[in-house]
Amino acid sequence: MVTIIDGKQAAASVIGVVKSATAVLEENAGLKPGLAVVIVGDDPASHAYVSAKSRMAKECGFHSIQHTLPEATTQEELAQLVETLNVDEIIHGILVQLPLPKHLSSEAVIQSIRPEKDVDGLHVVNVGRVAAGDLKGGLVSCTPAGAMVFVRGTHGEDLSGLNAVVIGRSNLFGKPMSALLLAANATVTTAHSRTKDLPAVCRNADILVAAVGRPEMVKADWVKPGATVIDVGINRVPAPERGEGKNKLVGDVAFAECAEVASVITPVPGGVGPMTIAMLMANTVIAAQRSLGQDTLQL
Ligand code: GUN
Repeated sequence: MVTIIDGKQAAASVIGVVKSATAVLEENAGLKPGLAVVIVGDDPASHAYVSAKSRMAKECGFHSIQHTLPEATTQEELAQLVETLNVDEIIHGILVQLPLPKHLSSEAVIQSIRPEKDVDGLHVVNVGRVAAGDLKGGLVSCTPAGAMVFVRGTHGEDLSGLNAVVIGRSNLFGKPMSALLLAANATVTTAHSRTKDLPAVCRNADILVAAVGRPEMVKADWVKPGATVIDVGINRVPAPERGEGKNKLVGDVAFAECAEVASVITPVPGGVGPMTIAMLMANTVIAAQRSLGQDTLQL
C-alpha cells in the first residue's frame, strides 16, 4: 500500500511550531518577526504566491509588509528598496519574488540582500553553507528544506546506504536539494536534461525527487519498486474533462501510475507546495531569533 504524503497537514504542523516560537519571542523579548516581500510587475501567478506568503505571515503573528513595484522599475530603484530593508531593524526577512521582469538582474538583487535576512536561502553565503554541509549556521532554501522534512519523516535523519536521484539542477531547487540529501549521507545523483538514459538512472533511486517543470514526465517504469517519490513540479495543463477552457495542476510525476510502484509519494497539489510557505515562515522566525542571539527553532 502506498502512503500519500499530506503536505497540508505537514505544513500546518510547521506553522504550529512557528506560531509558538513567535508568541514566545513577543512575550519574552517584545519582538515580532518582520517579513518584507517584494514583487515587481504583473505576473498573476507570482501575485497569487506573494499574497499567500503575506497572508500566512500575518496569520503567524509577524510584522508583514509587501512592496508591489511596477513592471518599469529600474535595477537602481529595486537595489535602493533592498538596501532600505537591509538596514530596517524591524525587518528580519526579505524575499524578492522570482522571476523578475526580463530587464532586471535577479542575481544582482539576490546577492544584495544581507545573508542573515535572505529567508529564501539564495545568497551565495547561504548556498555555500549548505554546500559545505553547515545546515545550522545559515538559512536553507525553503522548497528543498520542505522536501527534506518529508524525506526525514520517511527515512529518518540518516540516509546512509540510500541512493537519491534529483531530476533538475536549478539554483532554486535542484542544487540545494542534492546538497541537503548529501549532507544526510545519501548517495546522490543530480540528473538533468543532458543525462543519458534518465529512466535507468531514476530506477536506481530509493529517493526520487523531480523538479523539471515537465508535466507527468516521470512514468511508473522509472520508479524503483518501494521508492519514495517527491514531486516538486507545478504545471498547469488543459483539463477539458472539467469543462471547456478549464485547467488543472499536475506535477512532474505521473501520479496514478507511479503510486502503484512507489511506497511513499507526494501529490500535486497538496504535497511539497504548502511546505514552501511554511518553511519561509520558519526561516523568518529563525532570522528574528538569531537577531537576538537566541537558539533557533528546530524542525
Ligand atoms: N518563485 C517561485 N518560487 C520561488 C521561491 O521559492 N522564492 C522566490 N523568491 N521566488 C520564487
